[in-house]
Amino acid sequence: MRQETQIELICRALDNIDRRRSDADGEPFELPVERYLDPSIFERERALLRSRPVVVGFASQVASPGDFITHDHAGVPLVVTHDHDGVLRAFVNVCRHRGARIADACGHAQRLVCPYHGWSYNLSGRLEGVPHRQEFAGVDLEQRGLIELPVWRRFGLVFACLTPGPATRAFPFAEDLEELDSHVLHAPSERTRRMNWKLMMDGSWETYHFRVTHAKTIASHFFDNTGVFDFVEPDIRMVLPKRSIVDLRHEDPATYRIRQHANLLYGLFPNTIVLVQPDHAMVVTMWPTSIDRTTIVAGMLIPEPPQTEKARAHWQKNEAIFWNAIEEDIAMGERIQSTLSSGVNRSFLFGRCEHLIGKFHRVLEEAITDATSRKTVSRE
Ligand code: FES
Ligand SMILES: [Fe+2]
Repeated sequence: MRQETQIELICRALDNIDRRRSDADGEPFELPVERYLDPSIFERERALLRSRPVVVGFASQVASPGDFITHDHAGVPLVVTHDHDGVLRAFVNVCRHRGARIADACGHAQRLVCPYHGWSYNLSGRLEGVPHRQEFAGVDLEQRGLIELPVWRRFGLVFACLTPGPATRAFPFAEDLEELDSHVLHAPSERTRRMNWKLMMDGSWETYHFRVTHAKTIASHFFDNTGVFDFVEPDIRMVLPKRSIVDLRHEDPATYRIRQHANLLYGLFPNTIVLVQPDHAMVVTMWPTSIDRTTIVAGMLIPEPPQTEKARAHWQKNEAIFWNAIEEDIAMGERIQSTLSSGVNRSFLFGRCEHLIGKFHRVLEEAITDATSRKTVSRE
């Protein structure tokens, strides 16, 4: 992150601490609970996740030629390869013969071989091997390569778009996140919980709940309901100041290092959050598996693979701190989900310090309308 940005964010944080408040905007507002219950909205959200760039893995998983990963949470089976020309590629993970799924999990391979009749594809997606090829005389097998999808690496992550065609994406907070480019994946995890995916997103965009929800875990490290919030469509940046930040009042701003005194939470629209901490980041992506179930895919981005027991213990401790707090958030999401269908609440109420949630929902609403109206992905 640029030094000027660090200074600006820290000054805003200190100002908010003096005023005992978070950044606030607009007026209190309500959102209808139908947003979490309406199957047609859910289907449009699923369509959105297939039409926009999403996080499908970590760059270190496909660092070398021959590496591949698969991904299935967006409703389109995906395989990402690092081919032997050094190019990162993504394909629909479906055989062009009779549609069997080709690759599983992740690993290292010379080629991708369909387990049904043995058609084989090189890592650039070209169909190379067809047993008893003469049985397909007259068919242009050159046209039967894997269907290619847009993919690229950034911030230590792999982004792909599940719709064929050109796709790119502007990241308003890219300068902040570039230091993660060389980080590697550690401690990947996946869990499915009973809640609409947006409840998990909503809970990320305010610190109002910290003092109560996280009373026994992380709350004491932070000021109550005090954060610095930026929304640059479609992404979010939140600064969560730690108690130690007030010591900076006596320091030269040229020496400010924001990661030592605050956690930074980024929302990469639509469904990924990146929590940047002093020496690593946690990446969490919410995948709606049904209207009331969410698969939470996560991993740590750390500077280098741990080489010693001490390093492993350090990351294990950080992982545990993170999940202890996130499980508290998940529990609250599940509590809301458990009451949603009762009809007791027609809407949810949000305060001014929760305004990022309203902005997230507005952009989502616009995006799902857009996703259902366009057939291919266009350059943004
Ligand atoms: S379905 Fe893949 S080789 Fe037949
Ligand atoms: Fe929380």
